[in-house]
Order: sequence, then C-alpha cells, then structure tokens
Amino acid sequence: MKVCVVGASGKLGQYMVQHALDRGHEVVGVCRERSVGKLDRFKGRITIIPGATNDREVIRKAVAGCDGVLTVLVPWGVQQYSSGTAQAVMDCSPPDARLVFSCGWHISRDGKDRYSWKLKALVAIAGPIARLFRLAELDDQVEACRRIFASTTKWTVVRASDLEEGDSQGLPVWSRHVGDAILESNLTRRVDFALFMVAALKNDELIHEAPAIVGCQTPSARAGEA
Ligand SMILES: NC(=O)c1ccc[n+]([C@@H]2O[C@H](COP(=O)([O-])OP(=O)(O)OC[C@H]3O[C@@H](n4cnc5c(N)ncnc54)[C@H](OP(=O)(O)O)[C@@H]3O)[C@@H](O)[C@H]2O)c1
Repeated sequence: MKVCVVGASGKLGQYMVQHALDRGHEVVGVCRERSVGKLDRFKGRITIIPGATNDREVIRKAVAGCDGVLTVLVPWGVQQYSSGTAQAVMDCSPPDARLVFSCGWHISRDGKDRYSWKLKALVAIAGPIARLFRLAELDDQVEACRRIFASTTKWTVVRASDLEEGDSQGLPVWSRHVGDAILESNLTRRVDFALFMVAALKNDELIHEAPAIVGCQTPSARAGEA
C-alpha cells in the first residue's frame, strides 16, 4: 500500500510511520516545515512533504496515488486547523482511498456515549480556557468530525481513551460507545493507538465506524473478553 501520514512528526504520527514501514507500506509524511527534523530517523525511507496540514495544495501533493491516508486531527492552534485538515484530506484523496482519522473519546458520533463526570468537567473547563489563551480549539475538532461523519468517503474515526507511553501490548479492543463496560479502564498505549490506526486501513468492517478504543491488556478489556 502507499500510505500518507498527515501530522507525521508528532508522537502518534511517528508511531504510525513506523508501523506502516514495518508492514512494508510506502510512506509519505506531511508535517509543519519546522518539524521536519523530528523525522530524521526515517531519512531515506519515507517521502516528506513539509507544510501546514490544512493547506490543500500540500495535501493534494501528498495524497496523490495513496491507497490510505492516516490523519492526526490535532486540537492545537485556533485557525480551524482540524476542520481544514479533514476537509483537505477528504477533498483531495483518491476517491477509493481508506481515510483513518484520530481523535479522543470526547467526540461523539450519535450522542449515545455516556461520559464520566471527570471527562465532562475536563472538556467543559479546559476547552474555553485553551481557546481563551489561543492554545487549542476543541470545538473545531468536533466540527472536523461532523464533516467526516457526513462524508461518503471510506472513513473511520478512531476515538482514543487516555494515553500512556510504553511498549506495545497488541491491538486495542473497541466498542461503539464510550460508557460500554469494555472501555471502563480508559487507558491505551500510544504505540497501540497507532497500531489500530494502521490496521484499520485493511479492515473494511471499520468503514463508517467511530470505534472508541482501549488497551487490550487493561482490566476492562480482559474482563470483556473473558
Ligand atoms: N494526548 C492525549 O491524551 C489524547 C487522548 C486521546 C486522543 N488523543 C488524540 O491523539 C492524537 C494525537 O495527539 P497527541 O496528544 O498524542 O499528540 P502528538 O501525537 O504528539 O501530536 C501532536 C501534533 O500536533 C501538532 N501541533 C502541535 N501544535 C500545533 C499547532 N499550534 N498548530 C498545528 N499543529 C500543531 C504537532 O505537529 P508538530 O510536530 O509540527 O509540532 C503534532 O503533529 C490527536 O488526534 C488527539 O486528539 C490524544
């Protein structure tokens, strides 16, 4: 497969690049010009297109001929960065390409997720504060996902729990709604979040799904599979 990683220089992006290379995929990475150095360890093994991920010309060039596009939807910055990125990816990717987007549990596809008071409080308090200081724009990630859910492209939106670093434990398990018992542990290794994103490229059952994921070795995942 030829795979584009949009937002390749971040932690999740770098893990996705590594997993894609491990699977023998040809990889094109997009990241901000100033972050190209973060991808030095992949030098000679991937093609890098520097630029803003919401710049349509940058995305058009990067996704040309790709079978799959993995996009990190970041809430950082306040110029509709997430929604601009999602729109550019949907508009410019080849029509049959598998499009996989990352976000967090706070995104709801159908309003049927049941959130803990902790997550509700975090979004209610952190969102406006981040916006006030022009750090992040949680609402724009919501808008990005609204557009994706309405699209006829072959999309999957992967919604991750809280994250931690550490060695891979294997492919996370998933469920349709936050609040489902299997997700209770609310923790996934970032490297495995990336594994799920890359594996989704070849899993047609995930087309038009917004799986909420949790680490496969967490207590709730193990209890759910027992
Ligand atoms: N962190 C969590 O606890 C958590 C939990 C659940 C889901 N997620 C999801 O996981 C994904 C990755 O998030 P992460 O927190 O793990 O971060 P990450 O992988 O380290 O990625 C951060 C990304 O944000 C970009 N970025 C930072 N500041 C920016 C700005 N001002 N304008 C534009 N881009 C900017 C970085 O690009 P540069 O390399 O160019 O700086 C990088 O690509 C996101 O989709 C997030 O919603 C995160």
